[in-house]
Amino acid sequence: MTFTVSVAADRVECRPDQPILDAFLRGSVWMPNSCNQGTCGTCKLRVVSGEVDHGLSPEHTLTRAEREQGFALACQATPCSDTVVERLDAAPAGTVHTLRDLVGTVSAIEDVARDTRRVLVTLDGPLEFSAGQYVELRIPGTDHGRQYSMANTPGESKQLEFHIRRQPGGVATDGWVFGTLSVGERVDTVGPLGDFRLDPEDEGPMILLGGGTGLAPLKSMARQALTSAPDRAIHLYHGVREESDLYDVDLFQEWERAHPGFRYVPCLSDQSWPGRSGYVTDAFVEDFDTCRGYSGYLCGPPAMVDAGVKAFKRRRMAPRRVFREKFTPAV
Ligand code: FES
Repeated sequence: MTFTVSVAADRVECRPDQPILDAFLRGSVWMPNSCNQGTCGTCKLRVVSGEVDHGLSPEHTLTRAEREQGFALACQATPCSDTVVERLDAAPAGTVHTLRDLVGTVSAIEDVARDTRRVLVTLDGPLEFSAGQYVELRIPGTDHGRQYSMANTPGESKQLEFHIRRQPGGVATDGWVFGTLSVGERVDTVGPLGDFRLDPEDEGPMILLGGGTGLAPLKSMARQALTSAPDRAIHLYHGVREESDLYDVDLFQEWERAHPGFRYVPCLSDQSWPGRSGYVTDAFVEDFDTCRGYSGYLCGPPAMVDAGVKAFKRRRMAPRRVFREKFTPAV
């Protein structure tokens, strides 16, 4: 049994136990989305007609008053009847990639930095996605999944690269990626997800500011941008605590030699060294007087992303040119 859920001229069939967002994305219909677990509010929409079950929508993301006014979270709400909804945001530029279930095989596991692993998964079939998006990896033997951004480019659609930081006691990391996971293991994935992606219509200079494994989607974006415009001005800042947290340094230095417009700035917050020290957002502010005409992409811990948005504003980057992805704790 399914219900018909419509938005503008598009309609999809949705099971009573299926989140509306899932049905739209599987039907190649864009809906704003980021965390896909009810915590960010990005997917909020208005129910114009019909009834939905709000499921586990938390009060802090969808208040009682908002529910009474007809709002819902697309990633949590399931239909109880045929339903018509209205998006609150305009669709971004670029292709809508269809959400799919794909199976892959772990082809490499590498310790690249302190408590950080690079995991390569070779998919049975190609995944179409935009640089910056993520997939959910299903944790074997559980009902849980974890979200990891692709660090490879969309052109490398069959071999996905993930950067995974260990969370002490974490079900997905201590219990799996840093525990039992081995080369050859089969992995279930769902994706692509998320609206954090390289703007395909922008060819101007850009600043990429990442914290920890927030580097992953930025690496994909930088490589994608350099592939289409090898001389493009790209400033990649990577903020970590200690030197042992840095990775892919040789690769980025190689990019600097090959691409005159590419600049790589590693920055340590807890340790002095011959390179840049302090907060990565402060390093960016020191380097730029103005960022008019630039685009900015931020990915990492929420405090770093919020500081980065303020830093971009201080340096006069247009708000519509600021794109961000915050790490969200697994629910
Ligand atoms: S609350 Fe639905 S995508 Fe974040």
